[in-house]
Amino acid sequence: MNALVPEVTDGSNDQWFCLGCIQDMPQGAHGTRLLGHDLVVTKRGDLLTVRMDEAELPLRERYGYLWTTTGTPAGEVPEIAEADERDRRYVPCGAIPVRASAPRVIENFLDMAHFPFVHTDILGSEPLTEVEKYRCEIRRDVDEVWATDCVFTQPKAALAATGAIRTDYIYRVTTPFTVLLYKTCPNSATRWDVICLFVQPVEPGVSIAHPVMFLLDDTGTTQDLIAFQQVIFLQDKIILENQRPVLLPLEPRAETPTRADASSIAYRRWLKEKNCLYGTSLGPKAA
Ligand SMILES: [Fe+2]
Repeated sequence: MNALVPEVTDGSNDQWFCLGCIQDMPQGAHGTRLLGHDLVVTKRGDLLTVRMDEAELPLRERYGYLWTTTGTPAGEVPEIAEADERDRRYVPCGAIPVRASAPRVIENFLDMAHFPFVHTDILGSEPLTEVEKYRCEIRRDVDEVWATDCVFTQPKAALAATGAIRTDYIYRVTTPFTVLLYKTCPNSATRWDVICLFVQPVEPGVSIAHPVMFLLDDTGTTQDLIAFQQVIFLQDKIILENQRPVLLPLEPRAETPTRADASSIAYRRWLKEKNCLYGTSLGPKAA
């Protein structure tokens, strides 16, 4: 393990990393960064390669995104069954650079407590600020962190929402730096909207977020669906870039947890178990 990145000696390499949406990548060679290293992605027609120094890295194409690894992932790119459902809208939402560590970006995505304050009158509003009790566990059979029975009353839960609705959420952290949520769909009583966030760790304190959605929405234009999500993510970006410390604290009791933080506690425990320390206080230092 870790053969390609000798100075990173923890388990951070052993996963698939998203490098972006393939349709957004230019023809020819372009540079990007992963775990503090320069990569060159080359696209010729439909053919893609990823190189680090002189070595060609493994790659996968999944969900219209390019994935690579610098280590030995235990499995394949995370499976998202809904992505293959024919009647869903496929909505890749671009690449958003964030001056924040990858695990901070994931934790923010898991956090419901900030909805009324950061996404005011969209995903939450005062006085309905309480995060109700939810369940959270590390699922050993699939090696993922799940938070279930999450509920929040949202003024504008989705572009298709016509009024405030009590919104159910299920969160699923599929790899240390990929997360998705299943959310009440205003257009269907029996199926969920799916919103994914693939985070590319660039430096310990710098990331690129790649959000993509698989929605049940026949009416909204793709442009409006993207714009709705981008407003939310830009609100998160401001919070993320001002969060201190920059690196996610992994020392015991580093930040005082509340009931709302059950998912954050499970996520940190899981990172530690995996020795996945990039972007944390126990990993390489931020520049
Ligand atoms: Fe947010």
